[in-house]
Amino acid sequence: MILKLENIYKTYISEGEKIHVLNGIHLEIKENQIVSVEGASGSGKSTLLHIIGVIDKPDSGNVFLFGEKVDFSDTNKLDLLRSQYIGFIFQHYYLLPDFTVLENVLMPAWILEKQNKKIIQHDYLKKAKELLEKVGMSHRLNHFPSQISGGELARTSIARALMGEKKILLADEPTGNLDKENSIKIIDLLWQLHQEYQFTLIIVTHDSELTQRIKNRYKLIHGKLEIIN
Ligand SMILES: Nc1ncnc2c1ncn2[C@@H]1O[C@H](COP(=O)(O)OP(=O)(O)OP(=O)(O)O)[C@@H](O)[C@H]1O
Ligand SMILES: [Mg+2]
Repeated sequence: MILKLENIYKTYISEGEKIHVLNGIHLEIKENQIVSVEGASGSGKSTLLHIIGVIDKPDSGNVFLFGEKVDFSDTNKLDLLRSQYIGFIFQHYYLLPDFTVLENVLMPAWILEKQNKKIIQHDYLKKAKELLEKVGMSHRLNHFPSQISGGELARTSIARALMGEKKILLADEPTGNLDKENSIKIIDLLWQLHQEYQFTLIIVTHDSELTQRIKNRYKLIHGKLEIIN
């Protein structure tokens, strides 16, 4: 089991009011599986993905990654997990506006290097260029995010998410901002990269083009996950 969630709870407090977002989530995902998480806006999908990606911590419950229980107080270990093994495609991509396409993809490696932690890959410039070629962005390496199209932002974001030796790729509505034609291209690309690099893919989506290709589908409702058959 590459990922296991055990009784995860998460509550936000906003203006003195408690919002119970996750109410006892259980989930087990095997290596190389492709899984979707669906659910209404505000149901907690991004919150769940952030906990799986150790970007955010649960109030209670356990997360197991690669067979090991995650210690959310060990920030060194969390940084390494995120930079090396868990890729994240954010809902609005969040590329850094003042850095080029290539620099955005190199960023995780630079951060690790600066923190004097384990390097992503010996020759990470080569790796970044390879990934950008795979996603069809070789001709835009020196463009800034404001100078590229929506589909290209998605492609760059995928390349950045795959820097390192990613074993899990988390994609939060990767086609949410794209037209149908570009959505299909991005979905095809994700499937092709999954074949090639062999990672576990967890996708939050409402896109029927995407969900009809996925066997393991879950719906987040009232803070719990239900299987969709
Ligand atoms: N940092 C926060 N502080 C307070 N409330 C929050 C915070 N983050 C999220 N929420 C609330 O928690 C609920 C779940 O948010 P989340 O972003 O996980 O939903 P979602 O399913 O991803 O929605 P969408 O489909 O619109 O992206 C929402 O009601 C949201 O307003
Ligand atoms: Mg969301």
